[in-house]
Amino acid sequence: MRMYDIILKKRDGGILTKEEIAYVVKGFTDGTIPDYQMSALLMAIYYQHMNYEETLNLTLEMAKSGDILDLSSIQGIKADKHSTGGVGDKTTLVLGPMVAAVGVKTAKMSGRGLGYTGGTIDKLESIPRFSTSLDVHTFMKNVSEIGIAVTGQTGNLAPADKKMYALRDVTATVDNIALISSSIMSKKLASGADIIVLDVKVGSGAFMKTEQKAYELAREMVRIGTGAGRKVSAVLSEMDQPLGLAVGNALEVIEAIDTLKGNGPKDLLELCVALGSHMVVSAGITDRLLEAENLLKQTITNQTAYKKFCAFVKAQGGDVAVLESPQSLIHASIIKNIVSDETGYISHIKSDDIGKAVMLLGGGRQTKDSAIDASVGIVLRKKVGDYIVKGESLGVMFANQEELAQQANQIFKEAFCFSDKKVEKTPLIKGIVI
Ligand code: URA
Repeated sequence: MRMYDIILKKRDGGILTKEEIAYVVKGFTDGTIPDYQMSALLMAIYYQHMNYEETLNLTLEMAKSGDILDLSSIQGIKADKHSTGGVGDKTTLVLGPMVAAVGVKTAKMSGRGLGYTGGTIDKLESIPRFSTSLDVHTFMKNVSEIGIAVTGQTGNLAPADKKMYALRDVTATVDNIALISSSIMSKKLASGADIIVLDVKVGSGAFMKTEQKAYELAREMVRIGTGAGRKVSAVLSEMDQPLGLAVGNALEVIEAIDTLKGNGPKDLLELCVALGSHMVVSAGITDRLLEAENLLKQTITNQTAYKKFCAFVKAQGGDVAVLESPQSLIHASIIKNIVSDETGYISHIKSDDIGKAVMLLGGGRQTKDSAIDASVGIVLRKKVGDYIVKGESLGVMFANQEELAQQANQIFKEAFCFSDKKVEKTPLIKGIVI
């Protein structure tokens, strides 16, 4: 087999066989296929696309290019959630304890954030002494005993994807349904869960800007996961404004704690209930979504989810005292009210600009090795549909450098769009794919 012939075949619209795909993934991972040939193939795939069989084969080959996490020693059903990335998305911190409280376990290998969508690991590290590098034994033990553990990516999970994603990033070949689906699903399959729930964000602040594109991606990922023998469902959720009110690592942890205590923003809880209900039904705890939703809501009112969160933080070495007084997580030296220059109904909040403002403050990574400041961020006071009068507060900024605070202030204000007419709030959940 020759890489040249495979590139030519795809360039001319041919369908790649399982053997050809296996040859490409293996050769690219071990370095025998050079970047320039892989770039050419990625561009050919970008234009000619891949059918379902090809995408499934690509996913399976990428999943087995490295370690596959074996969770079989953990009793019970193991679930995992993936979000395509959104600003203010702290769902894992709320959803994990909620589903654990009703008996669904989550063994989560999570990433650090790059760019303006923060990673779960970065958020958790704002809790003093919280360890995000568990050894495999402790990770498995915590999932078994508490029902939830989160660790940074260790080992060698889907290395083919890591290499391919880096190449796609610099060759303008990220934006392709087959390549995105195989990239996401290869990592999820290698992470070993029986149940996978996908949160596919849609809107101006998301990877998928339109509902049509988001549905296309969701359907493909669900089909691939199902084809690989897992129970997979997808929830399409709006990203035309940040999720919840807090954006920034420590601030998001505070908001997650508030939500677990029953005092969080409605949209965050709604999303967690929607995602969690599919996990609960797939786990066979009930076959009715409505009942699953009620079970999850009860974990908030009866505090069982919050207790799970405390047990999870304790088991990972974190300081549980801060959970009782989460405001103690705020260490920013500058706390500023940001007021509106306009009067009107808020019609849209450009989430990516809010994310950029927080990144500028130091809350996000420009490159994968940059350090982040967990204490900075913004808490919104207004969301889409709210009416605001000039001079009223749009949000509160937490910063550590005056000059950056001024720049972020401007970006934050400009992220808000206004209308003279009343703006209807749009539903958070746009659709479900099962
Ligand atoms: N996230 C991934 O993990 N892979 C992609 O291709 C796009 C988003």
